[in-house]
Amino acid sequence: MNKPIFSDESLKQVVDMDRSHVWHHLVQHKPMQEGAPMVIVEGEGLRVRDTNGKEYIDAVSGGVWTVNVGYGRESIANAVRDQLAQMCYFSNSAGNIPGAKFADRLIEKMPGLSRVYFSTSGSEGNEKGFKLVRQLAAKENGGKKHKIIYRDRDYHGTTITNLSACGQHQRKDQYGPFTPGFVEFPHCLAYHHDRGDDPDFGVIAARELEKVILREGPDSVGAVILEPITAGGGVITPPDGYFDTIQEICTKYGVLIHIDEVVCGMGRTGKWFGYQHYNVKPDIVVMAKGVASGYAAIACTVTTEELFAKFLADSSDTMQYFRDISTFGGCAGGPAAALENVRIIEEENLLDNVVEMGDYLLGLLHELKEKYPMVGDVRGKGLFAGAELVADRKSRTPVDEIVMNRIVADCLEQGVMIGRTNRSFQHYNNTICLSPALICTRDDLDQIVGSIDSALSRIQLQ
Ligand SMILES: Cc1ncc(COP(=O)(O)O)c(C=O)c1O
Repeated sequence: MNKPIFSDESLKQVVDMDRSHVWHHLVQHKPMQEGAPMVIVEGEGLRVRDTNGKEYIDAVSGGVWTVNVGYGRESIANAVRDQLAQMCYFSNSAGNIPGAKFADRLIEKMPGLSRVYFSTSGSEGNEKGFKLVRQLAAKENGGKKHKIIYRDRDYHGTTITNLSACGQHQRKDQYGPFTPGFVEFPHCLAYHHDRGDDPDFGVIAARELEKVILREGPDSVGAVILEPITAGGGVITPPDGYFDTIQEICTKYGVLIHIDEVVCGMGRTGKWFGYQHYNVKPDIVVMAKGVASGYAAIACTVTTEELFAKFLADSSDTMQYFRDISTFGGCAGGPAAALENVRIIEEENLLDNVVEMGDYLLGLLHELKEKYPMVGDVRGKGLFAGAELVADRKSRTPVDEIVMNRIVADCLEQGVMIGRTNRSFQHYNNTICLSPALICTRDDLDQIVGSIDSALSRIQLQ
């Protein structure tokens, strides 16, 4: 990493300004006001440094699985700089050069899909999907097929409507009343299901969707939204046969499949998109976070040509096309960064690295499970892994949140930033989450899992 370009004095002022005026995301402020907030100054590869000059290895790609190609990528910064100097912004009612090129590159990687709608965040991208479903219901189905089914434990964004589609109950608590027309169906986490050991569990779990469609009435249900692998809900990989059955049910009842790739997309799981591991044909796919690895804000809502064609109304009809806008969806720096991001993933063969390092990471976590009874379950795909901690293996009772806090703090002390499920479910915020950048090496993973090992050994001794 370069030598810090800021003086100690100016960094101290920054910390004071932050403490006085910045309202941070997701964290409790009281402890932060008493201590000093962490302010990250610089990053390179997998490592970041704070205002005290302390270096950390970041096992969660910017805290929330975003910086897929790692920090300090000058070529992305240059691509954004060049684009901004040439043409920074024009509303996406017109096109721009990187937008057209990136849409073309993306569609190459998503057989069966053909249209890309640009916006700025995962929440916004998912909201576009919901609006498409609602408008189709209004214009094609006399208001029927407007309901959207979501799954327990999944998360799709922070707005009130995204929270209406949120299966993480602690996250939505106190923010209601919610948007009507969203209905939940049960999760597919075998570890916490009384039929989780059944070889047909994938089919059993997916059939829960059919039960809800039948209960609500198939003519009222327009879409189901699913994360291919649930992220913040505990890194839940779908059981065998799950998506085959989801596809069969959706085809049978004319229900659109909306896949939320905000975390899994752009190589995180070893394929370009998480859904591509499974036998499913989405109608809508939403991606954000890793699309430009955090170097610019960009989200894409991608659809089939068939769905797009339903909005190709006769131009004399001024109401039947998709009347949506995202001001900053017209920022040309986003697709410029995304194009360079894709080039890096391809040139450095990062998908292969994800598969190889992902297997290594899961192996290390399984070794921890052998060593510590507290590690109840290990799950994941590619560089996207979770270890669920339990107080008792037999009953699978989660560890107390204080234990989770101690482990995260211990790793931080050792210079390793790990993630955990956070404010998702009362009593079930007990999964350690790891999602290092796609460039990580065995040594990086040894350091990350080694720190968890040391933290667990200290907890055991207490
Ligand atoms: C699966 C999933 N979908 C959507 C979102 C929302 O994305 P954003 O925070 O960019 O609005 C997130 C954010 O963590 C997510 O994990």
